[in-house]
Amino acid sequence: MSYYKIHDLENYFKMYKKSVREPRKFWDRIADENFTWYQKWDKVFEFDMEEAQFKWFLNAKVNITKNCIDRHLAKRGDKTAIIFEPNNPDEEAQHISYNELYVRVAKMANVLQEQGIKKGDRVCIYLPMIPELAVAVLACARIGAIHSVVFAGFSSSAVTARINDSECKMVITSDGGYRGNKTIDLKGIIDEALEKSPCVEKVLVVKRTNETINMKEGRDLWLQPLLDTALGNHIATIMDAEDPLFILYTSGSTGKPKGMLHTTAGYMVYTAYTFKNVFNYEENDVYWCTADIGWITGHSYILYGPLLNGATTVIFEGVPSYPDFSRFWEVIEKHKVSQFYTAPTAIRALAKESIDYVQRFQLDTLKVIGSVGEPINEEAWHWYNDHVGGKRCPLVDTWWQTETGGIMISPIPFVTPTKPTYASLPLPGIQPVLMDELRNEIEGNQVTGSLCIKFPWPSMARTIWGDHQRYKETYFSAYPGKYFTGDGALRDEVGYYRITGRVDDVIIVSGHNLGTAPIEDTINEHPAVAESAIVGFPHDIKGNALYGFIILKETGEGRDRTNLAKEINQLISDQIGPIAKLDKIQFVSGLPKTRSGKIMRRILRKIAEGDFSNFGDISTLLNPEIVEEIKNAKL
Ligand code: WTA
Repeated sequence: MSYYKIHDLENYFKMYKKSVREPRKFWDRIADENFTWYQKWDKVFEFDMEEAQFKWFLNAKVNITKNCIDRHLAKRGDKTAIIFEPNNPDEEAQHISYNELYVRVAKMANVLQEQGIKKGDRVCIYLPMIPELAVAVLACARIGAIHSVVFAGFSSSAVTARINDSECKMVITSDGGYRGNKTIDLKGIIDEALEKSPCVEKVLVVKRTNETINMKEGRDLWLQPLLDTALGNHIATIMDAEDPLFILYTSGSTGKPKGMLHTTAGYMVYTAYTFKNVFNYEENDVYWCTADIGWITGHSYILYGPLLNGATTVIFEGVPSYPDFSRFWEVIEKHKVSQFYTAPTAIRALAKESIDYVQRFQLDTLKVIGSVGEPINEEAWHWYNDHVGGKRCPLVDTWWQTETGGIMISPIPFVTPTKPTYASLPLPGIQPVLMDELRNEIEGNQVTGSLCIKFPWPSMARTIWGDHQRYKETYFSAYPGKYFTGDGALRDEVGYYRITGRVDDVIIVSGHNLGTAPIEDTINEHPAVAESAIVGFPHDIKGNALYGFIILKETGEGRDRTNLAKEINQLISDQIGPIAKLDKIQFVSGLPKTRSGKIMRRILRKIAEGDFSNFGDISTLLNPEIVEEIKNAKL
């Protein structure tokens, strides 16, 4: 029997044990039986946890797009690879077959090469959720260029930072993008971003909105005319297993965004394997993940995972609330979706609306429903399970990270019994452990601790682009010999995991990871601000919202507070993006600090939550009186 598909609970435990006892054999067989290689590996893996060095499928030669596209053509050439559902429901959906996808990727790959892009070059992709985004990503992978997709909601300075960090040679963007009833001027944002990005030589522009835009001579080119004359076939570049596939930026608790680097073969094997099992994908299913390809969820489970399995994957350009709150349910009915994968923040927002929106549609094609990005609270879990899944579709609460490349802890539908708010059991190959404050592994069940992974897996990020030291320090030094996730977790009486949330200074707002430090740095740039501290507080829909405690300079004291708050949020919006705006701003005269000068955030968190019951020990504070003052003035 193949190792690729898990059939029942007994089989899961057998596979899991095998993957822990004989990881080489386990992954060797999965990689061997389910992919096409130019050349197989000499060794399955090699690693050094202390130095944070990891290699999988050493010396194997492969191209991931051959596995995503070419090898399906004989059997599934006419099968739909991508269903494109536009923002506006009146615009017709597109069905792109595997044959057509091949031609489009080949043409795009030829264009990139004609424009001077070579293996190893970085290409920034800043596009809305349209088929060209998928095609651009795959074309980069086809020629061995490293794609760096930047979510098309980021501001120009956030784009500049990401382009410059990885020295991208090219940007692929569009004249604009649609999101609900808004049109976003993506090209304008890129023009502004590129004023400070000398490394970019060429910009390819996709036509989407037909807005008038500026085209800079010698730098900017419309894509379509280039595609029209390009050849429709392409010989894929032979890649080493460990050649970089992509960079994807994620926020850290401090400093600049981290360019997580993923490589080719391990990522391919793991995303394919987890997609197949976690979504129980069968040949004629239509799979839909509502994430944006600008995030890891979109990379692994809109594009690579599904296409590696020859699946039909939906790309949705719009938002859940446009033209009204039935949009998701309408699309499920329209395209007969079998697997639906979304985020708790979307579920919470939709659960607030009339149940009629859901009940008007036939959702009985659904087989599996999934959640990702943040903890799903009990109420949202039940609403999703009952009204969308009809209590018959297993709800897979999938825990993973940009850094992990693929899903790590999740129920396997029809195999693992689900339990509300629990991500449940680790997938084969994944060895989670909980650690206490003294860095000891916590044994047994009914315990909580910091979540670490004690053995490598194929799709782990290999480094932070340009900063291996930071990679080592962030992930492999808090608990020596283990990968530290930054999350806290609980293990129940049967060994199921529940992720309780971040234990570092990352706050997840509507599923987006935001580091406190970069936001504070931005606020502090305002001329009237002396110092600031950001914490998260619970929010009905967003999960968490941001609360800022801000100390003004003397010059700011006389100013109108409402205007100041507006200016501060505008600054954040310009520099980071609207998602990072503060829901509440409280001007204070001081911040609770320890004698070593560290802000005691746990106190601010309690105040922001409105929980004044027990601040714990505040005797180590330099200025304990400030706590009372902040509390009394709380918004
Ligand atoms: C959180 C998204 C609880 C967690 C794939 C993690 C979750 C961070 C879950 C990574 C889940 C993700 N339950 N929390 N099912 N999934 N998270 O890098 O805090 O955007 O560390 O990757 O999201 O976010 P990222």
